[in-house]
Amino acid sequence: MSNIILVGFMGTGKTTVGKMLENATGLPLIDMDQLIEQEAGTSISEIFANEGEAHFRRLERAMAQKLATRSNHIISTGGGIVLNPDNLTDFARNGLVVCLTASPDTILNRVRNDKNRPLLAGDKEQQIYDLLQQRQPLYDAIPFQVATDPYTPEQITEIILKHFRSHTD
Ligand code: S3P
Repeated sequence: MSNIILVGFMGTGKTTVGKMLENATGLPLIDMDQLIEQEAGTSISEIFANEGEAHFRRLERAMAQKLATRSNHIISTGGGIVLNPDNLTDFARNGLVVCLTASPDTILNRVRNDKNRPLLAGDKEQQIYDLLQQRQPLYDAIPFQVATDPYTPEQITEIILKHFRSHTD
């Protein structure tokens, strides 16, 4: 088990914690959404607007299959990675899948001024509520959960590393 894969709803801190894990371990961070944007030559918002969510999910699935074969990386995923269970199955073969969680209020505070998340266009509070309703069982099914509300990013990084090391040493 050599990768650490960060999963969780939008605004649960995957990017922040991913960078801290990269600094702490020296393992390179791969941000899936950034890589999808690079390969597509356009932004996630543009992909959703021009080609639709289903197309984005296909790009995301192809990227998950590719990245799951890597070793010794920190991989930060997009919040919808749980929608296709094959993604998590593939990642779990060679990595610790970590589910970051946060309360809806915390999520709302963290994404309030964000313009780059097409699924939160419009009434953000309602969108967060609806998406969490749909996805909660998928996030809950991940064995290793870290609640981010009570901790600093440094503490979350420590919690994850302790768990990771206890499974790799
Ligand atoms: C999505 C989350 C986003 C991005 C896309 C769809 C989702 O990533 O992949 O906008 O379905 O939850 P973040 O979780 O990094 O915001």
